Amino acid sequence: MPAPRPALVPAPTQLTHRPGHFTLDQDTSLRITPGAEPAATLLRTLIAPATGLPLTAAPDGPFVLAHDPGLSGLGTEGYGLTISPDAVLLRAAHPTGLLRGIQTIRQLLPAQALANGPRPGVPWQLPCVEITDVPRRAWRGFMLDVARHFQPVPFLRRYVDLLALHKLNVLHLHLTDDQGWRLPVADYPLLTEVGGRRAQSMVGPAGSDAFDGTPHQGAYTGRELRDLVTYAAARGVTIVPEVEMPGHTRAALAAYPELGTVPGRRLDVWTRWGVCDTVLGVHEPVLDFCRTVLDTVLDVFPSPHVHVGGDECPTTEWATSPAARQRIETEGLSGPGELRGWFLGRMGTHLLERGRIPTAWAETGEGLPPEFTVMTWRDPEHTRIALKRGHNVVSSHHSATYLDYAQSTSPAEPPAQPGTVVDLRAVHDHEPPADPTTEGGELLGVQAQLWTEFAPTAGHVDYLAFPRLAALADRAWHGASPWPQARARLIAHGARLAALGVRHGPFDPYVPVPHRFGEEPR
Ligand code: ACM
Repeated sequence: MPAPRPALVPAPTQLTHRPGHFTLDQDTSLRITPGAEPAATLLRTLIAPATGLPLTAAPDGPFVLAHDPGLSGLGTEGYGLTISPDAVLLRAAHPTGLLRGIQTIRQLLPAQALANGPRPGVPWQLPCVEITDVPRRAWRGFMLDVARHFQPVPFLRRYVDLLALHKLNVLHLHLTDDQGWRLPVADYPLLTEVGGRRAQSMVGPAGSDAFDGTPHQGAYTGRELRDLVTYAAARGVTIVPEVEMPGHTRAALAAYPELGTVPGRRLDVWTRWGVCDTVLGVHEPVLDFCRTVLDTVLDVFPSPHVHVGGDECPTTEWATSPAARQRIETEGLSGPGELRGWFLGRMGTHLLERGRIPTAWAETGEGLPPEFTVMTWRDPEHTRIALKRGHNVVSSHHSATYLDYAQSTSPAEPPAQPGTVVDLRAVHDHEPPADPTTEGGELLGVQAQLWTEFAPTAGHVDYLAFPRLAALADRAWHGASPWPQARARLIAHGARLAALGVRHGPFDPYVPVPHRFGEEPR
């Protein structure tokens, strides 16, 4: 009987199955051309725990990892993979393409290869295939909010590996918000000492007035974040940092009240969920503060894109602040409504002068300098508007990419962000509106968002993230496929998620998952 065809997620651009298989055993050696060493290291690192295979290097090894800059049509991330009964050839024009191909090889092995402990007795066979694979979208991201609920670095490393398995290439870390500040800044130690801890958290369904009475705290060290950047780079994943401004800054204001709009006011790190009125002031020392924070960000994160937030910035405090009124006058602005764009524009200049790309949430698709890359989250129409205005855009439309919404209407669903349901099909179906005739910016790609007000534990994050993130990855890399096929592939892919200990949510809206919700991942 022929071996079952592995259901790859994302599906490759071109895939041909052939008869037979290649067997990996203790004697299988790798032929590694210059530039392919990182891919060899990654392959060994990823499959050694389950398989115990050494995959030593040998000049005549049958398993070839070939970096060939002369290959055309593969771009930075594409690769070609040929598996025959007596040889494996993985080729790419760029080392990153080899990293993507390694993840395909990993998925072609039996799912037990993904386990984090020995799985003796499994035949480590790769089916014979011919694959040419090139991503459709350049930016395939996942945003994790570590401000509302802190997650330690081992958890982030695990997510980097989960993203890489799905050929996602951006982990966007939402590092600061009203409810917590997680990024150390040497000149402002109270940001993490005071801003990294809140007295308690809201619990229960949205809008409830119940609190847990338990402090929540956490912050990273610079060393931890630098190590995370290196770990992610070895897997072809870029960490995009986000520091929120000028709204969503209550934790910073609790640490340094003088950054606010009301002199002498003391604030707590916010314990509620929602949008809070307190925002940064617009006096010069606040701009100096933000530039210092950004300089720390630049020092830790080499990412070309640096995110400065910019969403949900109420103007009520600016409307009554003498310093804000003076700023409006000296800058010739029409009113408080223009201060957000002015503020972000100043920060954008600081980043551009240092060779980085300022990035922000698009509230309307307008109001920011065109050099900003924007994430359009509110309305699909904002994507079109922003592109027309010359922005590069990452589509983050909430009704298809916000994984904090419930994934089914089942009463068994745990508390989630209210407003809508984002099921697996909705994520799979998301196609950003892009008018190819429009001169202007470029649609860089798509990104899933996981805000964590309702996701306090690692198991809960898993439950919300998967399998929807796998569906997003499939669409972003491969493009559209007929839903019945995509669904069947995603369900088969569940065996890999199970091998990895991912406590995923439902594949179908009314079908319960085979584990207890909220269990911690292995
Ligand atoms: C957002 O959801 N406030 C970007």
